[in-house]
Amino acid sequence: MSTAPADSDLVLEARDLNLRFGAVEALKQVSIRVRPREIHAIIGPNGAGKSSLLNCLSGFYRPQTGAVHFQGRDITALAPNRRAAAGIGRTFQGIQTYPSMTARENILTGFHNRMRTGLLDALLYWGRVSREEAAYAAKAEEIIEFLELEELRHAPVGDMSYGLRKRVDLGRAIALDPEVLIMDEPMAGMNPEEKGDLARYILDIRDARAIPIVLVEHDMEVVMDISDTITVIDFGRVIAVGTPAEVRSDPAVIAAYLGKE
Ligand SMILES: Nc1ncnc2c1ncn2[C@@H]1O[C@H](COP(=O)(O)OP(=O)(O)OP(=O)(O)O)[C@@H](O)[C@H]1O
Ligand SMILES: [Mg+2]
Repeated sequence: MSTAPADSDLVLEARDLNLRFGAVEALKQVSIRVRPREIHAIIGPNGAGKSSLLNCLSGFYRPQTGAVHFQGRDITALAPNRRAAAGIGRTFQGIQTYPSMTARENILTGFHNRMRTGLLDALLYWGRVSREEAAYAAKAEEIIEFLELEELRHAPVGDMSYGLRKRVDLGRAIALDPEVLIMDEPMAGMNPEEKGDLARYILDIRDARAIPIVLVEHDMEVVMDISDTITVIDFGRVIAVGTPAEVRSDPAVIAAYLGKE
């Protein structure tokens, strides 16, 4: 299986991942297949291994066995920053923005990986505007408009609501023009209105950029609403894969959730 050539219909694929922390088997023979332009949710009870799987996809964790393929290429050995530069964008659980920087400045940090000159240095100490920086400033402005952050572009992120800060973080993640976007619990801690807004931006990004989005999310209403495909993990194993309707009526999924509540 794992020696078979990469499936060219898939943007991102993990095959038979095994990840162990001491006695804890976080992932056991886990595979996931992410197709072009799909919203692919990963769900499962707390501690099931969802974040571990995302970390294997983005390179922060290295599975003991198994492989990760991106656009047909084996990236299992590639470091996280190289994967980001290759087109794997991601947001993390919780808040990752810089509170004292403005929305615009936070989005500009998203370009940091690609810039030849150090963006932060230029931004914070010299304010030097090179041609490269001007191009990124224009792109940051496009993202600000796309995410409807115009009124807040110069506001410090620390003064914003949780939902707005997550929206700025999303702007940072899409700055590098990712070819797949990975999000860990983007809606945790949001009120229903903020969740609705973010769900709309996620769908808009998928449509405007024609990229797949992989997200871990606990809110079942949102998951069932926006996902094309759902992979369900329980105790480090994939127990179901399918459309929301398929997964919702899967006896193994129902049992996994009922068993925890
Ligand atoms: N860096 C680590 N070191 C040690 N154990 C870890 C590490 N990361 C994850 N684990 C363990 O692996 C298992 C899966 O954790 P993981 O964070 O992937 O779960 P999760 O499904 O994301 O849970 P949650 O819904 O609570 O975010 C847990 O038992 C966890 O304690
Ligand atoms: Mg997690």
